[in-house]
Amino acid sequence: MGATRGTAGADERPSLQMLMRRSWDRPTDRDWNEVLGALPLFAGLSRRQLRGIAKLAKIVDYAPAEVIVQAGERGDSFYLMLDGRARVLGRSRLLRPGDFFGEMALIDGGPRSATITATSPVRVMKLPRRAFLKALKADPQIGLAIMETLAERVRRLERAVSA
Ligand code: CMP
Repeated sequence: MGATRGTAGADERPSLQMLMRRSWDRPTDRDWNEVLGALPLFAGLSRRQLRGIAKLAKIVDYAPAEVIVQAGERGDSFYLMLDGRARVLGRSRLLRPGDFFGEMALIDGGPRSATITATSPVRVMKLPRRAFLKALKADPQIGLAIMETLAERVRRLERAVSA
């Protein structure tokens, strides 16, 4: 599921990948600012707002074939792909750096709608529900970007059903 927005495009992705090559054992405020600032979804947030998100975010690594999100489970986090590739099982969707997932269970409180597995070494930023809602309130554009993605997904599914 894509998360491009504003001036974001394929040309921004290599810089995010370059940023991710550093060690994330002890991220500094500067590390967080650079990475969050490079994410298209957060392009409209101020440095202060990004700092607030960074305080609640975690960097998590997954090995190839590892399950990141399991269908049917309760969800309390939102994920942003920072490095690697992941697959939405049964939906033939490949997720790349800059893409997000896990928003549905946070929006409607329902169970995870699909399983997502790493297809390479993956690094994600995991945001707890509280930080996700905080970011949504801080920048209405984030909600709009998420709605665009949901609308695109409905159209895609409708096309698949009527094909
Ligand atoms: P959530 O239901 O919280 O957890 C599984 C995630 O998979 C879901 O949020 C979306 O982010 C993603 N997802 C579910 N269905 C699709 C789809 N058809 N296309 C792309 N991504 C999807």
